[in-house]
Amino acid sequence: MRDIIICETPDDVADAAADLIFESQTQAIGARGAFRIALSGGATPRLLYERLASDEWREAMNWPEWEVFWSDERAVPSEHKDSNYRLAHTTLLTKVDAANVWPMRGDASALREAADEYARTLRSRLGPGFPVFDTILLGMGADGHTASLFPGHRVLDSSALVEAVEDRTPPRLTLTLPVLNAARQVIFLVTGAEKAERVRDVLEHNDPRFPAAQVLPEEGTCTWILDHEAARLIR
Ligand code: 6PG
Repeated sequence: MRDIIICETPDDVADAAADLIFESQTQAIGARGAFRIALSGGATPRLLYERLASDEWREAMNWPEWEVFWSDERAVPSEHKDSNYRLAHTTLLTKVDAANVWPMRGDASALREAADEYARTLRSRLGPGFPVFDTILLGMGADGHTASLFPGHRVLDSSALVEAVEDRTPPRLTLTLPVLNAARQVIFLVTGAEKAERVRDVLEHNDPRFPAAQVLPEEGTCTWILDHEAARLIR
């Protein structure tokens, strides 16, 4: 079951996502004393991170109880313009007192070792048992990829927690489908007319060719927050 929220503009998408995240962080901290979130990369979440750093949300969230992770990372130095860590660090994390921040080591020379290292981090911070995130933020490429799970790729069948995707430029690290589908909440942020056909393939046809369609938490919620352009082909 997917929930769909259609907003007028990308700014409204950021506001709707911030509202959902506030609810989730408050519930998680009340129940477990911490809020475990995996941030996404690309361009779309920038508006959300900037919104979360604004006075309204900066003062509302319980940042010291946040445990911040990433859903994927590019194999670039953390100061590189394409780094997903850098995006969140510069727009949000330098502005709030989130003390527990766990970046993927995309700059590692040995990406598979970095994937195994991050899996150990997930087990230690989110254990015991299978790592369950309170919230995982995701985007979707026009090709239907999400995180760094690309159509037809071998890692879509992986039972590992974290995989190295070495045949992309740049190579990447990614959480796998078992981790995404174990989350209590997945939030997709998708904007722009170029995503509209794929949004229809996923939300109306549930087309398994596209990894974004394979993200459907067994017990958690899955909310797609779209702007009108990305939603223009769905009924
Ligand atoms: C990445 C992202 C990726 C992203 C989509 C959408 O590292 O590239 O995690 O999955 O969410 O490619 O990217 P845009 O938001 O830039 O359209």
